[in-house]
Formats: sequence, structure tokens, C-alpha cells
Amino acid sequence: DGIRRRDFLDIAAVSAAGIGGLAVVYPLVSQMAPSKDVLAASSTEVDVSAIEPGQAIKAVFRKQPLFVRRLTPTEVQEANDVDVSSLRDPQTLEERTKEGHGDMLITMGVCTHLGCVPLGAAEGEVKGEFGGYFCPCHGSHYDTAGRIRKGPAPKNLEVPEYEFTSDTVVRVG
Ligand code: FES
Repeated sequence: DGIRRRDFLDIAAVSAAGIGGLAVVYPLVSQMAPSKDVLAASSTEVDVSAIEPGQAIKAVFRKQPLFVRRLTPTEVQEANDVDVSSLRDPQTLEERTKEGHGDMLITMGVCTHLGCVPLGAAEGEVKGEFGGYFCPCHGSHYDTAGRIRKGPAPKNLEVPEYEFTSDTVVRVG
């Protein structure tokens, strides 16, 4: 009688472990599979052919604002004249753009302080003391390469992963 009872308990313990194991594995699988699909589907294509030097457009990338800006020769020069070692987040304009497209600045439109959308991408908006972007929430100034120059933001505006799929089309993500 004692032995039978013991067999029953062991079988019950194994079944419980089996169910528990399934319950843990299944949600992991179901969470990981869709998120990969979502990421693949959420790249954004932007036609940059209509953007004139000195103009920018706002697009949306993964539900966040994206700034696509064609710099004027003067703005490129201003960015290149900066002593990079003096910057809070030292990066050259060249490092923040693609070869052959050094005047096309593509950044997230998200302030690296607390995430407000900086001004400067739309016509008539203030661009701040360094001619790039200005975040009105707490006064962060970004330069013509989107680098933080003054104010509380710790980092440059983020440059997302992107590539030119032709001379005029950019795929972001
Ligand atoms: Fe931009 Fe604070 S969120 S300065």
C-alpha cells in the first residue's frame, strides 16, 4: 500500500513539472516571434529628393519622430569647424552621415534629455543658438550636425540605422 502511494506521488510530481515547463516555454516563444516580425516590418522609406538645402522634413520611424535634413554648405562648414574634442558627445558630421551624402542629416527627433521633440525641422521654427535644433522643454541646443552643444541633454540626437537604397531614397531601420 505504501509503495503504491509513493508511485502515485512521483507521477503527480512529474506531471506538474511537465506542465510547469510548458507554461514557461510557451510565452517566451510567443513573445519573441512577433517582435521580430514587427521590427522587420517597421523600417521606413523616405524619398529625400524634394528636400532642398536648408530644408528638413519630419517623418515617423517606429512611432517616433524622425528628422531628415539637407544641410546647406554653410551648415556643413559650421559643423566641420567645431573642435570635436570640446563636445559633450564627440562625433564628427562625417561619422553621423553616409559617405557621398554628407549633407543629409538623419536623426531621431527625440531630445536625449527627457524625450521632447526639438524645434528646427519645420519652416519658421527656431533652431537654437547653434543653428540646428532647439528643445523648448528645458533648453537644449543642438548644432547643425544634431550634436548637443548647450543645455541638459547628455547625448547627440540619435542617428538611427539607415541606408540609401538609391540616390534619393533612404531606408531607415
Ligand atoms: Fe529636451 Fe529636456 S527634454 S531639454
